[in-house]
Amino acid sequence: MTGVTDVPARGTCRICGGDVEEFLDLGQQPLSDRFLEPGDVDEEFFFRLTVGQCSTCTMVQLAEEVPRHLMFHDDYPYHSSGSSVMREHFAGVAHSLLASELTGADPFVVEMGCNDGIMLETIREAGVRHLGFEPSTGVAEVARAKGVRVRTDFFEESTAREVRAAEGPADVIYTANTMCHIPYLDSVLRGADVLLAPDGVFVFEDPYLGDIVGKTSFDQIYDEHFYLFSAGSVQALAERFGFELVNVERLPVHGGEVRYTLARPGVRTPTQAVNRLLTEERDQKLTDLMTLRAFATNVRKVREDLVALLKRLRAEGRRVVGYGATAKSATVTNFCDIGPELVSFICDTTPGKQNRLTPGQHIPVRSAAEFSAPYPDYALLFAWNHAEEIMAKEREFQQSGGRWIRYVPQVHVT
Ligand code: SAM
Ligand code: TMP
Ligand code: ZN
Repeated sequence: MTGVTDVPARGTCRICGGDVEEFLDLGQQPLSDRFLEPGDVDEEFFFRLTVGQCSTCTMVQLAEEVPRHLMFHDDYPYHSSGSSVMREHFAGVAHSLLASELTGADPFVVEMGCNDGIMLETIREAGVRHLGFEPSTGVAEVARAKGVRVRTDFFEESTAREVRAAEGPADVIYTANTMCHIPYLDSVLRGADVLLAPDGVFVFEDPYLGDIVGKTSFDQIYDEHFYLFSAGSVQALAERFGFELVNVERLPVHGGEVRYTLARPGVRTPTQAVNRLLTEERDQKLTDLMTLRAFATNVRKVREDLVALLKRLRAEGRRVVGYGATAKSATVTNFCDIGPELVSFICDTTPGKQNRLTPGQHIPVRSAAEFSAPYPDYALLFAWNHAEEIMAKEREFQQSGGRWIRYVPQVHVT
């Protein structure tokens, strides 16, 4: 985003040291997953949320890094198992790894960011040797209670070395919605190189830049999402650290993700899907600055339309509540300056978020039960990535005349 002088701000790429040009400024933002007690409000942490792209390796990344201990700690409120669709998704991941990669004698799988054990519980049930890395102790305890083996630590080069020395090589390193959270990917990839067996695979899935740009889903950008990956930027990253990108799969979860598979060069034949996605990205000019600047223009249009709609509804005396106190909603509410006067509360099923205030805008979070007591006139769907699951569960809301407000890919009411 250009400043008063109209000169785009520049920085240095966290991966390759190249020049990063900023294209979107989402303003001052709080920690997206820090839900506050009323007494915490005065000492809230803020940082500048701007996004840029490296002119050398094309990696899209944040300009400012939030210290990891502020985001991932005892009280980290996100529990992966809160969604039945995600439970099914990760059981599927586990079964597919068990069938394809974990078939030798005494296979070993390491998961980075195992959270409450949503994926590893199926691996444990199959009796396969595993280890989850999870620095947030609260969710790690939930995983342990399911019998999952967890090391309460950040995965990085030093911790990966310790596991390699104590437990031998891993056949699979798997991670979901965690790689993009880690600015220090150089350390993670050196760790993967140490820990992975010669013919092992490193598999990770994260929100896809192509979907974010295609759907103007700018709320995928927040403190924890330091990188927005594309096949092109991941291929460059892999090569830089001695790996090869051998497969990509587009996934419908979390608003559109890609699962990337890395292996050591020459060990696996890259699938056609890799070249297909790279070609698609080139044809769509996905990582051209022009495209990213057009995305930034679309983001500002969504803000304008959403704020206008909420202000009109308030003027008409309508009651609007939010649905899903997602990390994504922190970006939306703070970028658009949506506070409790426009959205009176947000309901959410996560106990650790309830009866607290949302980051930055301090909108009260209430239990899911309060959604229907009584139903509001409009519900702003912050958890739009779980729309199918939520709409099915809340059919009665619409049947009784309630309307959903959506803002992806553009503001609309259903
Ligand atoms: N994998 C789960 C999923 O997809 O639902 C959890 C994703 S959650 C958004 C990210 C998780 O990564 C958090 O539980 C966080 O504590 C963990 N994490 C952050 N940095 C990490 C690191 N360096 N090593 C391992 N886990 C990390
Ligand atoms: P996520 O988009 O990062 O997965 O976060 C989803 C949030 O929405 C999480 O706080 C749980 C909440 N949620 C509900 O309140 N009800 C639901 O039915 C689902 C699926 C999620
Ligand atoms: Zn770079």
